Order: sequence, then C-alpha cells, then structure tokens
Amino acid sequence: MSALQQRVPDTPVFDLAPWMQPQMLRVEQALSRWVAADAPAGLGEAMRYAVLDGGKRLRPLLVLAARDAVAPTDGAVRSAALDDAALRAACAVELIHAYSLVHDDMPCMDNDVLRRGKPTVHVQFGEARALLAGDALQALAFELLTPDDPAVSAPVQARLCRLLAHAAGSVGMAGGQAIDLASVGLALDEAQLRQMHRLKTGALLQGSVMMGAACGQADALALAALQDYGAALGLAFQVVDDILDVTADSVTLGKTAGKDAADHKPTYVSLMGLARAQAYAGQLHQQAHAALRASGLQQQGALAALADMVVQRSS
Ligand code: IPE
Ligand code: IPE
Ligand code: MG
Ligand code: MG
Ligand code: MG
Repeated sequence: MSALQQRVPDTPVFDLAPWMQPQMLRVEQALSRWVAADAPAGLGEAMRYAVLDGGKRLRPLLVLAARDAVAPTDGAVRSAALDDAALRAACAVELIHAYSLVHDDMPCMDNDVLRRGKPTVHVQFGEARALLAGDALQALAFELLTPDDPAVSAPVQARLCRLLAHAAGSVGMAGGQAIDLASVGLALDEAQLRQMHRLKTGALLQGSVMMGAACGQADALALAALQDYGAALGLAFQVVDDILDVTADSVTLGKTAGKDAADHKPTYVSLMGLARAQAYAGQLHQQAHAALRASGLQQQGALAALADMVVQRSS
C-alpha cells in the first residue's frame, strides 16, 4: 500500500459511490440547463464545450457534501431552498473552475492542447473565443448565485458571492496563477511553493467547502474546522496534481502529462522528489481527516470520502 493509499484510522466507512452518483447527475443536468447554447456568434457552443461532458466535478461535490454536513440532524425539516442554493453554488464554482482551465490552457499561459480528453477550447474555437468563453462563464457563475428568488435570503446570496469572488480573485486562483507564471524557471522554496499552490488551486477547493457550509447552520468551531479541512484538502489536491503530471500518462489524465518539467514549472516533485511529495500528500490527507473529526459535525462521511478520493485518484 502506498503512502497515498493508507487508511486513516477512526474514519467511519462511508460508501461514496451511492452518494456521489445522484449528486453528479444533479450537477450535470443543472449545468446543461444553465449554460445555454444560444449565446451569440458561437460563444454558447464554446462555453458548453468547456463545461459539459468531462471533469471529476470535485468542487461541486465538495459544495454538496459540505451542505449535507451542515444540514439539520435533529429532525428539523431540511430547507429545499438551501438545497437549491447549494446546487447553484456547486454549479457556480464549477463554472469558475472551467473558466480557469480555459485560460490556463491558452498559449499565453500553459499552452496546452489537450483538456478533459478533448482539444482545448482555444484549439477548437480560436483564442478570442476561448478568452470570451472564460469571461462569460465567470459572469454566469455570479448570476447563478443571485436568482430572483426570495426563498434564499439576500445575506446568504451575498455570502456565497463573496466566498466565490474571494476564492477566484487576486488573493485566490487568479493571484496564484500570476505567481505560477512569474515562477517559471525559478527554484521556489517550500513556503513560496505552498503559497502558490494554496492560491492557485487550494483557494477554490476551500471556497467550495465554505460555500456548502454557508447553505446551512454551523457554529464557529465547525466553520473553523471546515476551513482547516478545505485548506489541507486544497493543498493536497495540487500536490497530487504535480505528482500525476510525472507518474500518469496523457490518456489517463485527459491532459498532457510531463508538462510541468518540460515547462520548468516549480512543483512539489521538483522541490522534494516524488517519494517525499507522496508522503507530504499523505500527511495533508491525515490533516484533512483530523480537521473533520474536530468539527463535531454528524454527517461528515461524504467530506471524508472526498478527501480520500483527492489523494487516491489516478487522474
Ligand atoms: C485541474 O483540476 C486543474 C487544477 C486545479 C490542478 P481538476 O483535476 O479538478 O480538473 P477536472 O475538473 O477534473 O478536469
Ligand atoms: C492550474 O494548475 C490551476 C488552475 C487555476 C487552472 P495547472 O496548470 O497545474 O493545472 P493543469 O495541470 O493544467 O490541469
Ligand atoms: Mg497552469
Ligand atoms: Mg496547466
Ligand atoms: Mg498541473
């Protein structure tokens, strides 16, 4: 058993598949409904191409799992309006993620030709349309979070917008991507690399957890524990992404393998070597589980299983 596959003691067994399958279906159907094809001049086609039929949907699943974790357990009625808000949040965060991938792949950034097993959006539709598809996906994300529906209170809608904007912006994904581009060919130290990964990838994953938590009731202790869980899982995710770039092939990944070393990107593998990077992912995995155990939340099975998925995945 590799360091990544060690079982975490004291974690109750939760069968992820039966939980995940219907959630994935809800997300796919909602995305297909909300990303309309009729945007002008082929923009809708490019947006749908970027978002539909692919991706692990980890961020939406985290939103929905966190929503489950903060839903009432004492027999009180679970709010359908907050479930709908969580589904909107799940789709919104996936739209931001899809936009970040479209831009990440463009020639001015990583210059990749393969994504989710298909030609990248700029290869398929040209750079200008790829740029605009990313822009429009980002705008649509915030539109989804603010339906003209009094069932979800304005403060909840505002909180969801704020969490997503914070995770996606200059102190989150976009800031991390800026550091990434400025770091090509540099030997970052561990603290610098951690900061880059926390921003470019960790922030949106942590934000997904906190958006789910915003669709329910959680006390300050549970919220702090979920922050810690999201931080550990978010960093683990990018450490594993760095590892898979070295250990997996392009067909399995659905994107070009070996690209980080070819492009002289600083990664956890270039910093500490494969074995130590794997051990570090294992440590972060344990940290994520420890945070969940400290949360006091009753329904944490899906979040725990998603942490396992993040470090045990092969693509
Ligand atoms: C890839 O994310 C980009 C990173 C943040 C490392 P995912 O591995 O979640 O990509 P999809 O959504 O499954 O395609
Ligand atoms: C990208 O990181 C993170 C994003 C914000 C999109 P990478 O550049 O490592 O992602 P991949 O490997 O291309 O999916
Ligand atoms: Mg990149
Ligand atoms: Mg890339
Ligand atoms: Mg990568």
